[in-house]
Amino acid sequence: MGADNSATDDGIVPAVDDGELIVVSNRQPYTHSYDHGDGERSITVNRPAGGLTAGLDPVMQETDGTWIAWGDGEADADVTGDDGTVRMPPESEAYTLKRLWLTDEEVEGYYYGYSNRVLWPLCHGGTMKTDYVERYWQRYQQVNETFADAVVETAGADSLIWFQDYHFTLAPRWVRDALPDSAFLTHFWHITWPGWDTFRACPQHEQLLEGLLGNDLLGFHVERYCRNFLDCVDEALDDAFIDPEGGRVSYEGHTTVVKAFPMGIDADSIREHAEAADDDFWREFQSSHGIDPSTNVIVGVDRLDYTKGIVERLDALERLLETRPEYRGEVCYVQKANESRSLIPDYQDLQTEVQESIDRINDRFGTDDWQPVIYINEFIPQRELCGLYRYADVMLVSAVRDGMNLVSKEYVAAQVDDDGVLVLSDQAGAHEELGDRALTINPYDTDAFADTIERALTMEMDERAERMVALREQVESHDLYAWMESVFDTIDELRAKDTDDD
Ligand code: F6P
Repeated sequence: MGADNSATDDGIVPAVDDGELIVVSNRQPYTHSYDHGDGERSITVNRPAGGLTAGLDPVMQETDGTWIAWGDGEADADVTGDDGTVRMPPESEAYTLKRLWLTDEEVEGYYYGYSNRVLWPLCHGGTMKTDYVERYWQRYQQVNETFADAVVETAGADSLIWFQDYHFTLAPRWVRDALPDSAFLTHFWHITWPGWDTFRACPQHEQLLEGLLGNDLLGFHVERYCRNFLDCVDEALDDAFIDPEGGRVSYEGHTTVVKAFPMGIDADSIREHAEAADDDFWREFQSSHGIDPSTNVIVGVDRLDYTKGIVERLDALERLLETRPEYRGEVCYVQKANESRSLIPDYQDLQTEVQESIDRINDRFGTDDWQPVIYINEFIPQRELCGLYRYADVMLVSAVRDGMNLVSKEYVAAQVDDDGVLVLSDQAGAHEELGDRALTINPYDTDAFADTIERALTMEMDERAERMVALREQVESHDLYAWMESVFDTIDELRAKDTDDD
């Protein structure tokens, strides 16, 4: 079991008074869209589907906080007051969602531009994919200022402000300068932090570091990213004093604690969904996708991003089928993919490349009764996804670089029969926790990757169960709620210490 079961039942909330918790994220927990059913137009609310947003939602409800995010839903403005706020969720109106409206130019520069064509590739080590367009940087600053202003307007002297991710590197510094010391600023960085040799390529590296050092607590998934960050600060900012052992940076009279918090998933919810997917579900799934019940199923589930190593994975599958003909007709690879950031050329290229690889494999090896790769790029409900995880014999996670990779943890949590095998890239943050019991691959080493897929397919039941029981124990005991609790405990300790020091 995790820390406890849910934020509301077990009170996993930080020590704040009502109204003091402010979460800042690019994506909002609820969006509103138009529904054109029955020829009438109505508005529907789309709720958090899972992950951190779903985990934080009850915390916000419990503390009557404010969640500040980009209002990107088509019908958002219709239900939002002139001050940009709407009470959520609709049935209990327990907290405030403050929507910030961004112009098309801001979205282009801040989201598609600086966030996803500079910071995303830079942090994942892909300096060749970065695109330093001045307009992107200008709009990124502008939007960070808009978010910082909204936080300052909302916050009180004792607020706890929690920034999420790489969209907001600059806002913490501005908020810190505007609020009294008693307000606490924390930030969780959901992606990798690169080494100095990579980070120094960014023309704005100093401003980015200075912005983040406005936080009192800065969290990363794993120790290595913390070390990389401290190293970057050490190299870039002459006036910074760094305590690497204590994970502290003092800069311009302010101290930032830097700490690893490996993020978990809502393991109980995944397990429950997986348990609900019975043999009938699986028979129906196989039949609707043309999968012969006698074939072994391998699964991959990814947002369509070049960091996920999808093409590298398809290469390894192709190598397996090419060099070991006995697997032809015996295995089926199901790729579930979610389209993402499609206005960016690198993402369009990836979509094309994935489709071409799949078509090539299917043309090369497919027969009248067997399709080697099944591609699912439409939405599937959570229950169905968890059922697919449950019944897949092997999961392939082959990220070429990934901050954590929560999908690998979801697969493990769904293994209620303890009979699946996780094949995991050593380039994913999750490898630090799961690497001992998963089968490790280097996504670029196609031959060894193909060998590992074979090893996974042929692994005896005893070994599968032994590995999976240990993996499940790890994922369940370090779930999303344990993660939130550990972040909140650290915040409470740091705040208590600050009060003692005063
Ligand atoms: O992992 C980084 C992240 O930004 C997540 O926070 C988010 O869920 C995911 O990538 C999807 O990205 P986007 O919000 O750009 O669609």
